[in-house]
Amino acid sequence: MSRMTVEQLRQDLPMTREVGYFQTGTYGPASDSVLQAVRETMETEARRGPATAAGRQSHTEREAAARSGLARMLNVKEEELGIETNTSRAMQQIARGIDWQEGDEFVITTLEHVSTFGLSYCLEQKYGVKTVVLGEVYDEHFLGDLAYVLNDRTRLICLSHIASPNGRLLPVKEAAAVAHKAGVPVMLDLAQSVGQMPVDLRDLDCDFAVGSGHKWLLGPMGTGYMYVAEKQLPGFRPNFIPDRSPWSLPDDPTPAPTTRSRTEIGTYNHALVVGLGRAVEIMQSIGLENMQARIAELTTRLRRGIAHIDRARIITPTLPGKSAGITSVKFEGFTKTDLDSLVERMSQRHQTVVKSQWLSAPPDPVEVAMRISVAAFNDESEVDRLLEGLDEEL
Ligand SMILES: Cc1ncc(COP(=O)(O)O)c(C=O)c1O
Repeated sequence: MSRMTVEQLRQDLPMTREVGYFQTGTYGPASDSVLQAVRETMETEARRGPATAAGRQSHTEREAAARSGLARMLNVKEEELGIETNTSRAMQQIARGIDWQEGDEFVITTLEHVSTFGLSYCLEQKYGVKTVVLGEVYDEHFLGDLAYVLNDRTRLICLSHIASPNGRLLPVKEAAAVAHKAGVPVMLDLAQSVGQMPVDLRDLDCDFAVGSGHKWLLGPMGTGYMYVAEKQLPGFRPNFIPDRSPWSLPDDPTPAPTTRSRTEIGTYNHALVVGLGRAVEIMQSIGLENMQARIAELTTRLRRGIAHIDRARIITPTLPGKSAGITSVKFEGFTKTDLDSLVERMSQRHQTVVKSQWLSAPPDPVEVAMRISVAAFNDESEVDRLLEGLDEEL
């Protein structure tokens, strides 16, 4: 595949001719190329017969390429990756792979996604696991606080790479080093980072990672993945899957466990995996450094503009390296109802799609912000329209 540009990516997304779409942090649009890959695979399977040689051929090679492409992008071994339907389900599988005992501890931060909080409530109810929530993610004490709370009952730390509510980039590599010093494994939630910037899991040195295909990767809806580091695989058993298939012959060797063999059960949608592979191929072809640079350029333009709007205050850290394409903005005196109305007017009157975001769990009507996700396929005119729209509506 020849190298692609962000302009070509924009052309491949017909939605960009209709609206300024700043909701990629929730759902990224799948491009025409991705849809075509999904459609072709499903059509060939259906028309030729999914279990015929021709039907199988429609996906086998492309699916293998998808899995190895994703592994290459994340710099992990293919054996360490499994396909899931989304980040939340992948996270549940990782949590189920841990032999929780009453009194064990699960460490998270106040900036985690609501699905992580949901998981923590259930771990508490089912096993009596205590969740330790680190609050001061905002200052230089974070790593010290993390080291302080770890003890011999801590079984897992879960950290977002980029925080969903405010776009903060967490020091996950440094946190993993602190955790490993204490002998505690780390799970990274990559939902908001992969697809925005290069992410090298070998370099971050985490034990587990989970992410979505349908956000910044611009893959098909209902795709996700999970990474289980090779060193964690022997004891990782989230499901009732034997090491040897019941169909294996007595002389067949027992295969080494892989993330796929321990997590993927039964039939799944081949076409979606092929589509995810196509999305990854596009990212790789443009270059994640180029995606990141374009996002940074547009985000700077957006933040400079917002700084001139009287009632608006950016709550995302703006120093270099502390955030990426997400910018969350609070409006003086705004409740959730006011914000919902503003978001609706931005959509109706200015063809600009942004998010009304809760900042706390449980929700507090005044702890809300407009979350603006700037993707590489956005352009200057859309950013300017967003700024003009805010100026007019406030
Ligand atoms: C950091 C983070 N984790 C998890 C999720 C949940 O993702 P999914 O819907 O793919 O499960 C989100 C969604 O916004 C997120 O931002």
